[in-house]
Amino acid sequence: MTAPTTDVGTEAGTTVRSLETVELKKAYGGVKALDGASVTFQHGKVNALIGPNGSGKTTFFNCVTGMIKADSGSTTYRGKDITGHAPHRIARAGVGRSFQLCRIFPRLTVLENLLVAVRPGGLARMILPSRDATDIDRARGLLARVGIEHLEGTEARDLSYGQQKLLELAGVLMADPETIMLDEPAGGVNPALIDRIADLVRSLNAEGKTFIVVEHNMELVMSLSDHVVVFDRGRPICEGTPSVVQNDPRVLEAYLGI
Ligand SMILES: Nc1ncnc2c1ncn2[C@@H]1O[C@H](COP(=O)(O)OP(=O)(O)OP(=O)(O)O)[C@@H](O)[C@H]1O
Ligand SMILES: [Mg+2]
Repeated sequence: MTAPTTDVGTEAGTTVRSLETVELKKAYGGVKALDGASVTFQHGKVNALIGPNGSGKTTFFNCVTGMIKADSGSTTYRGKDITGHAPHRIARAGVGRSFQLCRIFPRLTVLENLLVAVRPGGLARMILPSRDATDIDRARGLLARVGIEHLEGTEARDLSYGQQKLLELAGVLMADPETIMLDEPAGGVNPALIDRIADLVRSLNAEGKTFIVVEHNMELVMSLSDHVVVFDRGRPICEGTPSVVQNDPRVLEAYLGI
């Protein structure tokens, strides 16, 4: 069944809604990590979510992917309500994500990490890599795609941080998500691997994948993105094309804290 979609006019013409939130709120004690965040990301595009440290970007990712429960507000994905759904249901709906700090199994090999990624979540997962030949072929194909196929037998803890990020990206791709949410894919990664990650995002997007990328590397954000949303203090303060956002004084103010 095809999920209902809604057309929405933007400065770039008619686009289709992807992930959308309305008035999402999440507080930790007195800290309003999300303070009524209403955001619409665009299907088939590279969307970026930027903002100063502590502006709520990771909390936003966690709420919309079901890792933590928002206090209030709603989330839809391609027009279907996914508010409060468990992470595996949201993944099944087509949304995959990476983490700001890599989530890989350090003592499993690179290949095994992908074969674990494909197992169902929760207790059933048991860190037992799949032995299915199709899964193994797919995993090898993805390792080649991210450029670490020569490391398939290496324990993940022996990879460089950038290689671990590439492994995590391959893990996200194992489930063939329609929409990919990346939390700081270039953070702590050397420039050569940042270029590779950027090329991967571009080519996957050309194949139809939607991206929502949180990233502090502005050069990367501005060169990759079709649409940029800027957070400050738990809610969007500005959005638009990279050039629109770059020239908005509110963005500079948010980053400078004035
Ligand atoms: N588990 C938690 N317990 C208490 N406070 C939290 C928790 N998670 C986030 N916060 C607070 O919520 C606010 C938003 O944090 P969040 O990690 O979402 O920001 P961010 O935009 O991802 O920042 P960064 O760019 O540094 O990764 C911050 O003030 C943070 O300290
Ligand atoms: Mg964060």
